[in-house]
Formats: sequence, structure tokens, C-alpha cells
Amino acid sequence: MISDFDVLLKLAEENNLKNKNTVTTIGLSKSLTVSQQTISRKLIELEKAGLIVRNSSYRGITFSLTEDGTKFLNEKFIKLRNVLTKTTRNSIEGEIVSGLGEGKYYVSQKEYMLEFKKKLGFEPYAGTLNMNVNEMELAEFLSNIQMVVINGFKKSERTYGEIYSYPVRINKELEGAIIIPKRTSHSRKIVEVIAPVFLRGTLKLTFGDTIELIGKK
Ligand code: CDP
Repeated sequence: MISDFDVLLKLAEENNLKNKNTVTTIGLSKSLTVSQQTISRKLIELEKAGLIVRNSSYRGITFSLTEDGTKFLNEKFIKLRNVLTKTTRNSIEGEIVSGLGEGKYYVSQKEYMLEFKKKLGFEPYAGTLNMNVNEMELAEFLSNIQMVVINGFKKSERTYGEIYSYPVRINKELEGAIIIPKRTSHSRKIVEVIAPVFLRGTLKLTFGDTIELIGKK
């Protein structure tokens, strides 16, 4: 058996060394020393999962990582680095920025509200506070907090996906949580924070101010 990680890592390595139009099934089977049949099966799986993409080039069919594939490796990298360097980042700072006004719509869905109340212990103010953070710091910070899954649901033919939530304390005084939709198009430079209160009012903050989050264990 060969793991997803082994294949993705080899693919990233070869895409870097050569380029994305040169890595073929035969090439991968040789460099990973597994049969062509084994690697073909794995490539189909990874493609279905959206982690790699098939390209046609003058060499025939070649493979490269998608953005999700790169994200997968990046998450492993951060986990590994945290373990090996014993990093325990328990706080993060970021600047408050304005959003697209979508937070309100999602957070105020009754089904999500009930889940937040049940799993996080509070009913959030209907909206999200957007915060600009350093992506690497965020990944380190989140890897040290116990994640709580907020279940998705279906309503009028529409699917509302699962949300990952991470309980935090805001400016040492208020409770809240970072929420990250499982399927998101947001880059991880912006995170959304929910809380039982209107944070900008309660903490007298405006856009451009800095806030600090501390992870709750
Ligand atoms: O996405 P956008 O920032 O435009 O808005 P929203 O999610 O609809 O939230 C409405 C406003 O409330 C925003 O200005 C947020 O910064 C703010 N907010 C807050 O201060 N405290 C919260 N717990 C949630 C949102």
C-alpha cells in the first residue's frame, strides 16, 4: 500500500524539480517503486478527492497538485513542524477588517444557531468579525486548539456545509470562536470570529484595530 501523503509529496517534489507537464503515471510508478496498476488506482482516488489534476501535454497525461493538494501537504508540514519543534502557540493577533456581509446570513440560520448553542455554549450575535492574520501563525494556533464540528444541514434544496469551529477568548475578556467553513474559497489570511455579543461595540473597536485571540483548551 502507498499513502496519499507519499504520492502527493513525490508529485510536489517532481513538479518543483521538473515541471507539472512532465510527471506521468510511469514516472511516478518508477520513482515510488510501486506497480503502474497501484499508482494508477491511487491517482484516480486523489483526482476524485480533488487533490490532484490531470493535464494533457506533449508527453501524454501528466499530473499536478491542485490548491487543495498543496493545502493537504501544508497542513501535514505544520503539524510535523509543531511536533518536532514543540511549538505551542496559544495566541494570535490580527487586524479587524470589513467583510462582504455574508457572515450575518450564515450565522443567523436557525440550524447553525442551535448547533453553536449546543456545541460552543453560546448563541452568536448574527454576524462574523473578520480578522486579518498571518497564515502560518494561524495554522500553528489552530493546531493547538480542540476543534468542534458544527454540523451542516439541507434546507429548500440548498446545502449548508459543515463548519469547523475553534473556541477562543477575545482580548482576554470575551468568549467566542473562530469559524472556518469546511468548503471555503476564503484564503486563510482572513478568519471569521463569532461571539455572543457585537464585538466592535462591546470592545469599542473599529476597522484597523488589533485584537488578540487566546486558544481555549
Ligand atoms: O461580513 P461583514 O463584516 O460585512 O458583516 P457581518 O458578518 O454581517 O457582521 C456585521 C458587522 O458586525 C461587521 O461589521 C462585523 O465586524 C461586526 N461583528 C461584531 O462586531 N461582532 C460579532 N460578534 C460579529 C460581527
